Amino acid sequence: MTTRIRDVLSHAMAQLAAAPSADQPERDRAVRGALDLARGYHTCGALDGAAALCREILRIRPDTPEAISILNGVEHDRAFWRTAVISSNPADQTLTTFTFPIYGNPAAVRHTVDTQPDFIRAVQALSFLQNGWGMCRWMGVPVLKFPNDLMLYQEIVFETKPDLIIETGTYNGGSAFFLAHLLDLIGHGRIVTVDVEPMPDRPQHPRITYQTGSSIDPAIVDPLRAEAEGKTVLVSLDSSHLASHVLAEMRIYADLVSVGSYMVVEDSNINGHPVWPGYTEPPNPEASGPMEAIRRFVDERGDFVIDALKHRLLVTNNPNGYLKRLG
Ligand SMILES: C[S@@+](CC[C@H](N)C(=O)[O-])C[C@H]1O[C@@H](n2cnc3c(N)ncnc32)[C@H](O)[C@@H]1O
Repeated sequence: MTTRIRDVLSHAMAQLAAAPSADQPERDRAVRGALDLARGYHTCGALDGAAALCREILRIRPDTPEAISILNGVEHDRAFWRTAVISSNPADQTLTTFTFPIYGNPAAVRHTVDTQPDFIRAVQALSFLQNGWGMCRWMGVPVLKFPNDLMLYQEIVFETKPDLIIETGTYNGGSAFFLAHLLDLIGHGRIVTVDVEPMPDRPQHPRITYQTGSSIDPAIVDPLRAEAEGKTVLVSLDSSHLASHVLAEMRIYADLVSVGSYMVVEDSNINGHPVWPGYTEPPNPEASGPMEAIRRFVDERGDFVIDALKHRLLVTNNPNGYLKRLG
């Protein structure tokens, strides 16, 4: 948890502490808000925060089944995840199981890649360098994502049922086509995808709108902001991967993401996390990537948390890149 996230938690706890003396509607509001937050913390692996909130809820309202159920879930996760990860022994290259608290450890929630054992970093690097993911197609259209990440998008779309998906970085349109088909399956929503390059022959689909321009140009952003107003919105950032550009996008699009939904920052594995050290985009001389932008962003804002459970498949192009909006 970052300091700012801790502030959000303290605020919720203070509201709960004041609740017993408040009138009924205010007490209900405080409990509902704390339950939403506890659910969010639990989903993202911030188990201590989730448990603290639930205990406080049960102190003022002992008959709250949702709080009991979240607490049970927290206990289950603590018992399960802390013993389930495999690492290599660098000395003799054998595999050993050991306790590695990726999940439920606030430091790991924020910096999972930094605490990954070498074996997992090696699997990440090999999967990336093999470039099988770069040859993936969705219904015949190239899509530049690991299948694992596509599966995670599917989970997010099903969970959030977005009215609107905003994607920056269209390329061939494969990821937009994939997301449009998910929206078909839930029978709801549309996607606007933005790219500086127009490209002929992108797939046509009634739920997809293609926009040509820079993702940070007000001419593109302002209409999107108006359209997002009051809607359930999911954002996927997959355009230029320079830290300065990604951070600018994050600052612009964060407010468009609805509470409970996600901002997915793609390709945070580059610039040495653990692949493609020294990443840059000419003529920019300095190495940087999405991970550096994510770190700045979570330090700046208290309302997004990194969803650590999205690292559970181990191989992802987006380590620390699944950010859930909690408040
Ligand atoms: C990694 S590709 C997108 C891949 C696609 N989302 C997929 O998964 O198949 C990056 C795209 O970002 C576009 N791009 C680069 N800078 C951009 C910017 N400032 N605004 C919008 N798009 C940009 C590039 O033209 C390129 O097509």
